[in-house]
Amino acid sequence: MKKTIITIDGPAASGKEHIARYISKKYSLKHLDSGILYRKIAHLLLEKKIKLGNLNAFKRLINNSPVITYRKSKYLRSEKISKMASKIAIFKFVRDYVNKTQRDFVKNNKIHKGFVIDGRDIGSVVFKNADLKLYIEVNEQNRAQRRYKQLIDSGEKSIYQKILREIKLRDKKDKTRKISPLVIPKGAIVIDNNGSFKNTVNQIRFFLDKL
Ligand code: DC
Repeated sequence: MKKTIITIDGPAASGKEHIARYISKKYSLKHLDSGILYRKIAHLLLEKKIKLGNLNAFKRLINNSPVITYRKSKYLRSEKISKMASKIAIFKFVRDYVNKTQRDFVKNNKIHKGFVIDGRDIGSVVFKNADLKLYIEVNEQNRAQRRYKQLIDSGEKSIYQKILREIKLRDKKDKTRKISPLVIPKGAIVIDNNGSFKNTVNQIRFFLDKL
């Protein structure tokens, strides 16, 4: 049986995960957050104290690591790991490893009838033939404000201007990297997530009902 695949791409803190969770629940699809895989590799690198410049040690780490899973943990959301994840995501060997992990997971999974997957290159590279591709847009200020509130609510110290600067920096890194930069995937529906969640859902529902 063919599995349904919905991809959700967009910049940092654009609310992809919230939208993916909504779709997952309403349409009984498994939610996969591809950013978690990059964050886990970033965490491994920091934990092993491997410098980014030491590519041989970095490649060895990836080749010898057990298969990384989608399981989430709060510590993976820290700003330190966010920054490192964005840095390691430029390397082809990292992206090849993460892409293979994702495709294998979907191919070998016998439990779920379909998947909703969020990230930066899911509709443009990893699952180009997805049944529905969404691209989420939110302006920088709204994203910084939402991220700031998230951090404060979770007990981390935070400064709005710093978050805004970091969001701009991550956008630049994600959009200008040579391999798999963040783009609007071919055939994607662009969703404006600046307003209320209800407004966002109304934009998406039409396309979901057609599946
Ligand atoms: O979505 P996120 O913030 O958890 O992603 C963390 C970093 O991982 C992000 O800065 C860029 C990278 N990433 C990527 O390059 N491609 C993806 N499909 C998902 C994440």
